[in-house]
Amino acid sequence: MIDFKIFPFFSTLPTRELDKLKKLCRFKKYSSGTIVKNEKEDLDELIFVVEGQLSVVKTFRQRKNTLFNLDPGDTYGEVEILNGTPSLASLVGYQEFHLMYMPKDAFLRLIGLYPGFAKETRDIYRRRASQLLEEGVSKSQAGKVVTFFNVKGGAGKSVIAANTAVMLAKFWKKKVVLLDMNLAFGDQGILLGLPADNHIQKLVDERPPLKINHIEKHLTLHPASGLKVLLPPPMPELADTIKPMLVDQIVDILRPHYDFIIIDTHNQLSELELKILEISDLVMLMMTMELTFIKNTKLLLDLLQRLKMPRDKVKVVLNRAFKSMGLEPAKVEKSLRYAISHFIPSEGNIVVPSVNKGIPFVLSKTSEGTDVLMAMKKLCATLTGEEFEKGTWNMFSLVKEVFGIS
Ligand SMILES: Nc1ncnc2c1ncn2[C@@H]1O[C@H](COP(=O)(O)OP(=O)(O)OP(=O)(O)O)[C@@H](O)[C@H]1O
Ligand SMILES: [Mg+2]
Repeated sequence: MIDFKIFPFFSTLPTRELDKLKKLCRFKKYSSGTIVKNEKEDLDELIFVVEGQLSVVKTFRQRKNTLFNLDPGDTYGEVEILNGTPSLASLVGYQEFHLMYMPKDAFLRLIGLYPGFAKETRDIYRRRASQLLEEGVSKSQAGKVVTFFNVKGGAGKSVIAANTAVMLAKFWKKKVVLLDMNLAFGDQGILLGLPADNHIQKLVDERPPLKINHIEKHLTLHPASGLKVLLPPPMPELADTIKPMLVDQIVDILRPHYDFIIIDTHNQLSELELKILEISDLVMLMMTMELTFIKNTKLLLDLLQRLKMPRDKVKVVLNRAFKSMGLEPAKVEKSLRYAISHFIPSEGNIVVPSVNKGIPFVLSKTSEGTDVLMAMKKLCATLTGEEFEKGTWNMFSLVKEVFGIS
């Protein structure tokens, strides 16, 4: 039988009440990844965490935010029960956990009978109400998740994701983290010239519960821009050990700490990619002007529609565009039933050497004045909603910095 003394909440109640409660409360054990309560679901029992940890997650403007975590001894549901509302948030446990449920009537009866208990409840109520209502709103301003995706390889997902992330960090002064979710054959380490000793695999070995400092410890800094990168496992055969649930959790934890979470993906549509698409705020669907790409992009857009993904969450990006492509962009838009949001020109003489040097082209002197750089500036300006300030774009001092010229 559970010792009720682990709940500070009951410290003011006499033993006879605790004995009564033991008979009234129900207990349940859950496996990892269980959602015990959904937002807006009826809540007529007070919930106590006996073992494990749960996250309290609330959706604001179609974005999931972890408001706070519940540890053993913590309770959830005071605000809803006292206000007579359904659950204001969802409760999810990422590891195994054990809960106790106390019927609403028993809870209200104790408040009426014991002033000490009523005071304890009032204090928790105040704290929770502010976490659920006010902090939730401010957290909705937290990091935007932007994913570069297509099911066909070679569209430029990795190159454009890397350059976008670097540009936002360097010139918009945003706090940016780039997740390389091409877990078996990710290219971000090469594209950004990063050492390979830190990677996502190390997070699998961290003792749960996963916290922001664990993740930060395994991010790799890109010194020239301030961008941080979560690299894939060091060997392709380890890719399968990274579960979609872990990626969901990582993004959830990173969100309040970054302005942008940029995700590069593998060219397939498995459970991992579906999870990533679901948790993204924006999906940049990368394509080139070839019939095979157009066909696959169309199939993908239709699928996303069937999955009820909001239409404005998906932006079609035409990469490697040039004048005589043999296909009219307007006709392609008509066939996709989607506008092309961004055109990134083909500039092999700028992009290819930058890939080979491991220096993103937005940082290189040779890209100055080129159309491909201008297209990247436009793309970043739409992501931030801000033009970059005059003066921050000083290419000469930037080049000196990157190449160590004094
Ligand atoms: N705008 C561009 N102009 C010229 N070359 C480009 C451009 N964008 C990408 N490339 C070239 O296309 C190649 C493929 O790009 P990238 O590796 O980013 O594609 P991807 O979509 O990530 O492919 P995969 O699905 O195989 O990972 C790169 O080697 C790069 O040199
Ligand atoms: Mg790639």
